[in-house]
Amino acid sequence: MFSAAGTEKPLGIYRAFPVFWDGNPYLDKYDLVLDERPGRFRVPSLRNVALTAPYFHNGSVSDLEEAIRVMAVSQLGRTLSDDPLADIRIVAASVEGTIPGRNTDMFTNRAVSRQEVSDIAEFLRSLTAATLPD
Ligand code: HEM
Repeated sequence: MFSAAGTEKPLGIYRAFPVFWDGNPYLDKYDLVLDERPGRFRVPSLRNVALTAPYFHNGSVSDLEEAIRVMAVSQLGRTLSDDPLADIRIVAASVEGTIPGRNTDMFTNRAVSRQEVSDIAEFLRSLTAATLPD
């Protein structure tokens, strides 16, 4: 179902949101915090997600790319960069001077580029059914 809600164990069907708070501009922008702590939500299926805006529990985001940026920052703790090569540079810099096979830098705080946001959006658009029930 393209949703963690289908995974009964070990976490159950609810997920904390938002997870990453420090320096996260979306918390205020979209009024994402309910009660001074993360809410717990049943993640909706991403099938047909391109057709089901607005997104999130309060319907505060209407654009799919913006929902992806909110996820990248709020759930994955990533930064965003307008530089399409940001990722490649970060990986290259971390590969340099690290022990082969022990490179953990490339998995931490990677920037998500505009290209990646649009690639993910295209993937999510591919989850739209060719025919929909009436
Ligand atoms: C690149 C990775 C991800 C993408 C593209 C993504 C995409 C999305 C989208 C489009 C929605 C809105 C669905 C809707 O309202 O119809 C959503 C909601 C949600 N996602 Fe993600 N997500 C990602 C990663 C994660 C991760 C890692 C977590 C958990 C740790 C997570 C937890 C949630 C939760 C709890 C919601 C519902 C929040 C609410 O209703 O306010 N997501 N996600």
